[in-house]
Amino acid sequence: MKIEKTIKLNNGTEIDRVGLGFWESRGSEAEDAVCYGIEAGYRRIDTAAYYKNEPEVGTGIRKCGIDRKELFVATKLWYTDMCEGRQEETFYRSLERLGLDYVDMYYLHWPIGEVTKSWRVLEKLCEAGKIRTISVCNFQPVHLQKLLAKANICPAVNQIESNPHFQQNAAVEFCQREGIVPEAWGPLGKGSDLSLPLLVQLAQKYEKTPAQIILRWHLQRGLTVIPKSVNPDRMAQNLDVFDFELEEKDMDAIYTLETGVTKRGYPAQYRYDAVCAETEF
Ligand code: A2P
Repeated sequence: MKIEKTIKLNNGTEIDRVGLGFWESRGSEAEDAVCYGIEAGYRRIDTAAYYKNEPEVGTGIRKCGIDRKELFVATKLWYTDMCEGRQEETFYRSLERLGLDYVDMYYLHWPIGEVTKSWRVLEKLCEAGKIRTISVCNFQPVHLQKLLAKANICPAVNQIESNPHFQQNAAVEFCQREGIVPEAWGPLGKGSDLSLPLLVQLAQKYEKTPAQIILRWHLQRGLTVIPKSVNPDRMAQNLDVFDFELEEKDMDAIYTLETGVTKRGYPAQYRYDAVCAETEF
């Protein structure tokens, strides 16, 4: 199965399938990670207001001297700002912190708060050219169904936690049916899945690393990924996943690692039901 390095979104925009994640990249480490990442070949940068590193990411972008138009920069609206009168102001504060005059992608970070009203603000900013593509994170099918019933613009991407131990296959399949690209945050299980014996064994078989096996598995199941790393070697490794293919039996073996529970220790269904019950659409 040949997998292209880019994927076309439902608004016609092409994005890299592998982007660089910035959750838990802090201070000068985040600034340096932008430069190392661009040097390694990344063009897609994924941050969020909540990550508290937009200024450093912005400094990194300016420091490395790349043409802005070559980059695809994404940030996110945190849910406490998803309420009347705050969304637009918060967006412009993110732009200011990044030192940019538009972002390529802007996400609603959680389906919590005033979802539809916040989505309208994103649609307006998209029409005004301040955001090129609008998307969501952490939406379960039930949230997407409610949003799609009212949205003028369909979200392009749904960024959800997905990794071998917590795969979220129902959400992935729902997105694919609706033409929304599913994207994995924490694709490596925040590093914790790398030592699982099956992945170590597959790494030996394919002469790759466990991280590359996991990332390739995500790509073959149709997800895009934003692995986080601040280490130049690991960054390069995570991009180098287009020259091999996992056999179907190995894809299936990784599917059996599902536990239904995130490493945070709560049953997923419980948490997502609770989030849904609190959410206004
Ligand atoms: P580091 O930033 O020091 O490279 P996730 O993307 O699932 O959130 O995982 C991120 C974690 O996995 C970070 O701790 C990161 O550490 C580590 N990591 C990222 N890429 C690799 C890799 N190729 N090999 C080993 N660890 C990795």
